[in-house]
Amino acid sequence: MIKKLPIEALRPGMSIVKLSSDVWEHMPNLYTQPGIIRSGDEVRQIKERGFEHAFVEVEVPGELSLEKGLDAILAQCDHAGPAKFRVPFEQEIEAAFMAYENAMLHVRRIVSDVKLGRAVDYDASMATIDSIVETAVRNPNTLVCLSKLSRYDDYTYTHCINVAAISVVFGEFLGLGKKQLQLLGVAGMMHDLGKIAVPENIINKRARLNEAEFDQIRHHPQYGCDILGKQLSIPGEIIDAVRDHHEKYNGSGYPNGLKSNETSPMGRIISLADVYDALTSDRAYKDAILPNRALALMYGMREQDFDPLEVQIFIKSLGIFPAGSLVRLNTGFHALVYESNPMHPLLPKVKIILDKDLRPIQSETVDLATQWHAGKDGLEIVECVDPGAYRLNLKPFLRKRR
Ligand SMILES: [Fe+2]
Repeated sequence: MIKKLPIEALRPGMSIVKLSSDVWEHMPNLYTQPGIIRSGDEVRQIKERGFEHAFVEVEVPGELSLEKGLDAILAQCDHAGPAKFRVPFEQEIEAAFMAYENAMLHVRRIVSDVKLGRAVDYDASMATIDSIVETAVRNPNTLVCLSKLSRYDDYTYTHCINVAAISVVFGEFLGLGKKQLQLLGVAGMMHDLGKIAVPENIINKRARLNEAEFDQIRHHPQYGCDILGKQLSIPGEIIDAVRDHHEKYNGSGYPNGLKSNETSPMGRIISLADVYDALTSDRAYKDAILPNRALALMYGMREQDFDPLEVQIFIKSLGIFPAGSLVRLNTGFHALVYESNPMHPLLPKVKIILDKDLRPIQSETVDLATQWHAGKDGLEIVECVDPGAYRLNLKPFLRKRR
């Protein structure tokens, strides 16, 4: 199991988890050099360099694997999510593509408006997010898939839409009503607008930020709140969520150091979606972390960054193998997860698309849970595979019926 520990708690022999994604704004003093800690001296040196936390692999007796560990966590969480009618994935995916593309155009527009000192078009934002909400209600897996498989040039805009979509999917899983989902989606779309007020050289800096630079970053939720707060048409729930999206469960977040029970519920949902997307997004200079690995890391952040129950339910909503994950089956063939299964997280619906050598094949869809219930000795997921490592673009497979 993975756990986030303070540097003082590191001991020789502990293994630091590889974490090369773009999470600096969430954990600026995170030590990310993978490998085994050799000595107490090494721990002292890490601390002297200003690092405060690290993710380590903690051995749990009897634990078989990362996935089995997460499965046990999910079994403790009895929030199965309400049973809902869903439109088949293939039927909804085109609408999801359209909703994503429209939202991307809209985010570019509102960012440009804010840069030019113009008001944000709130009514158009609500109308744009409505398509995302409608798709989340009809088939949320389509959005989870697109959030991982859509590749657009500019991370800033993609991230805004991904955070909006994942927040809405999580909110829908929790049973929020349509109006609440729209507000949540708009808040997700606008959560980082305050970064416009931070100098670009700081936002785009690849090296570790110094204290003065990070101080600027710490202000971006408040800047966003100030920008939106000038517009009377924008509801307080959205402004509160934007302000609180970097607060943490234990009060160590920013800008106000609020504890979880003092923050807005929408802000906490956006915080989960924000970290998940930051961890699992490819950047030009950094590798994405596989979705199941990212969820394990986030579980390791419970009681520090996240409310333990809230992060468990978030994991449950996405599944151990979130839609959009590429997995290797026990046959050696490769499949795309297209529908998670909250009741049986290890048994999602998959589309087998590649052979053992990653060559495309005529695709076949399989519901692993149905097969398991039928008592067939059959397909199992062995592991997640990183499509980026093989330069695979999986997006076209979403549209292929066979
Ligand atoms: Fe942010």
